[in-house]
Amino acid sequence: MDGRNYIGGRWRPALSGQTFESRNPAHRDQVVGTFARSQAADVTAAVDAAAAALPSWRLVPPPERGEILLRAGALLEEAKEDLARLMTREMGKVLSESRRDVQEGIDMAKYIAGEGRRMFGQTVPSELRDKFCMTVRQPLGVVGLITPWNFPLAIPSWKSLPALICGNTVVFKPAEDTPAVATRLVEIFEQAGLPPGVLNLVTGYGEEAGEPLLRDPRVAAVSFTGSTEVGRAVAIRAAEGLKRVSLEMGGKNAIVVMDDADLDLALDGAVWGGFGTSGQRCTASSRLIVHRAVLDEVTERLVDRARALRVGDGLDPQVQVGPVVNHAQLDRIHGYTEIGRAEGARLLCGGQVLRDGDLAEGYFYAPTVFGGVRPEMRVAQEEIFGPTVCIIPVEDFDQAIAVANGTRYGLSLSIYTADVNRAFRAVRDLEAGIVYVNAPTIGAEIQLPFGGIKATGNGHREAGTAAIEQFSEIKSVYVDYSGRLQRAQIDNRPVS
Ligand code: UN1
Repeated sequence: MDGRNYIGGRWRPALSGQTFESRNPAHRDQVVGTFARSQAADVTAAVDAAAAALPSWRLVPPPERGEILLRAGALLEEAKEDLARLMTREMGKVLSESRRDVQEGIDMAKYIAGEGRRMFGQTVPSELRDKFCMTVRQPLGVVGLITPWNFPLAIPSWKSLPALICGNTVVFKPAEDTPAVATRLVEIFEQAGLPPGVLNLVTGYGEEAGEPLLRDPRVAAVSFTGSTEVGRAVAIRAAEGLKRVSLEMGGKNAIVVMDDADLDLALDGAVWGGFGTSGQRCTASSRLIVHRAVLDEVTERLVDRARALRVGDGLDPQVQVGPVVNHAQLDRIHGYTEIGRAEGARLLCGGQVLRDGDLAEGYFYAPTVFGGVRPEMRVAQEEIFGPTVCIIPVEDFDQAIAVANGTRYGLSLSIYTADVNRAFRAVRDLEAGIVYVNAPTIGAEIQLPFGGIKATGNGHREAGTAAIEQFSEIKSVYVDYSGRLQRAQIDNRPVS
């Protein structure tokens, strides 16, 4: 693919002419495409285009915007298989998971297109006669979207579709690891009939092509998904310009397995939650908090299951765990294996870079399980973003909840139990934006709000009804049809 930026409805190279490559993490010699390496001047041009498109796009009736987005959803559906294959080649996740990633985009398009016919406001009574009060939703203006590589279609869809239905115009800066999938998504919006300038794409690196979005005073809001460290820097920079900023950051999610749990079910969940997408999800089940009474059985069975996972190129239908996205990630994951060992956790399986046969061509890491992990260890506190699961033993329910809550993150927590009382107590007491009962920490559906508390987020949610809140302002409107001056709080009070 010969990728370019998409600015004002035209596909153009970076102004500097510079490019960068996207490579297949399963076969690093395979180039997926070459893309524009954008700098501040490209971002400025994209914001120019978005600002120019805003006055007319904001006046397009939301149901009409919805028609375009629904068409985009239909085109995504037609392209699902091709997009999924491209995604697997570009960032490595296995094909069934890539299909699912595209499906989240399709679901979001259908859901959000319907919002065009809702976009609810409120009508409320006035304290005065012959006066009407209501709220309406207004676009924020030009919004910047900065998205990660691990859900290269789903997350840009969660952000762009709601932003567009609300009447904003967009500058989209995808992760440098997944520009090809981003380019295909933008092509689909173009094909669906989105007017020029409404959605603009600038590819490149965060410091070069993301940062300028935070500095441009015409950008009203930025929505970011990525690490907590970068998210904090985004928030600080955005605060200088008083921009609205929504952050979706790290996680250190846990599955609690109680002594009364259905262990077959819990193990299926732990394997899927811990090793799916090679653990590269902000929702990954990276901690397994296990009641002492079932600890030996759960540990033994998890290790057996982890050892049996087939690691390889995600395009091979037999493969269950694909590569990790790049060399830096591989180093980071292995670095945590060394940290875990040094801290005294027991390495029960994995813990190594895989280099046998074809695996030497890519970035493959063995599914890894640590046992005997203490809650305060770094491997139990820090986001590894790899196929590493830490088993933490606990004595009872209260300790399990305390350990689950005992990190700086608060994205997704889960409990496996057959006891309805415990389940509801856990729902109440687990400190996270998302809680699952008898299911792993991954698998969010787009019609519910997605996001977290503590160091995971800054009070916003994506998807569900929250998506509209994220990308719109409320305007309170008073219409006085009395034909005279009516003073609120004065004219309807007796003179004292
Ligand atoms: C992420 O982990 O980065 O809940 C997003 C899930 C997906 C989205 C995850 N629907 O696992």
